[in-house]
Amino acid sequence: MNIKVAPSLLSADFSRLASDIHQVEKAGADLLHVDIMDGHFVPNITIGPVVVKDIRRVTALPLETHLMIENPQKFIGPFIKAGSSMITVHVETVTAETFGAIRKETSASGVKLGISLNPPTPIDAITPYLEAADFVLVMSVNPGFGGQDFIPGAADKIRGLRGRFSKDIAVDGGINDRTARLVIEAGASILAAGSYIFRSDDYGKAIRSLRCATQ
Ligand code: DX5
Ligand code: ZN
Repeated sequence: MNIKVAPSLLSADFSRLASDIHQVEKAGADLLHVDIMDGHFVPNITIGPVVVKDIRRVTALPLETHLMIENPQKFIGPFIKAGSSMITVHVETVTAETFGAIRKETSASGVKLGISLNPPTPIDAITPYLEAADFVLVMSVNPGFGGQDFIPGAADKIRGLRGRFSKDIAVDGGINDRTARLVIEAGASILAAGSYIFRSDDYGKAIRSLRCATQ
């Protein structure tokens, strides 16, 4: 599968966000990963639809909006309207009913829908949602902060999932050139990476080292 790299804006400098976005865009990013945190589902707060709307104006890259929020169904409309190309909700925050409603809303707007699971959540928890999902996002850290260490169990989860899911499997948390290799070999096709890219002094080199980690 074609490997796509998604710089996570959580590690960008928000005082010069447009400039950081332009730099990763020029450096070969395939899409942008935008972390939305509500201080309830995760112990941190980030940005909302107002900022996503402005990000949409300054880049042509697809935006993957990673919703780490409770009651995501309440905010699907605003994040679609803000210009998300892909929206990820956490299995820990939905029911069959709310996920169904979210699926309808995203499909009607041509937005791709992903289902994510935290490190302690078993793959079985997402099984009921796999058929309706366009992609899966496997968390390889406990969500809330950038710069944490990759949790190795995530690679086994990806491998287990790859056996029964043929669409994109994204992975998020602690991705660097070494862990990228592990997750690509396990079957991941989208790598979200924050600190590894934004803390490097050559974004192009960092992005290429992830995309080509197995070569
Ligand atoms: C963590 C976020 C990640 C984060 C990854 O809660 O969902 O997207 O930005 O950051 P790194 O790549 O630094 O682990
Ligand atoms: Zn994320």
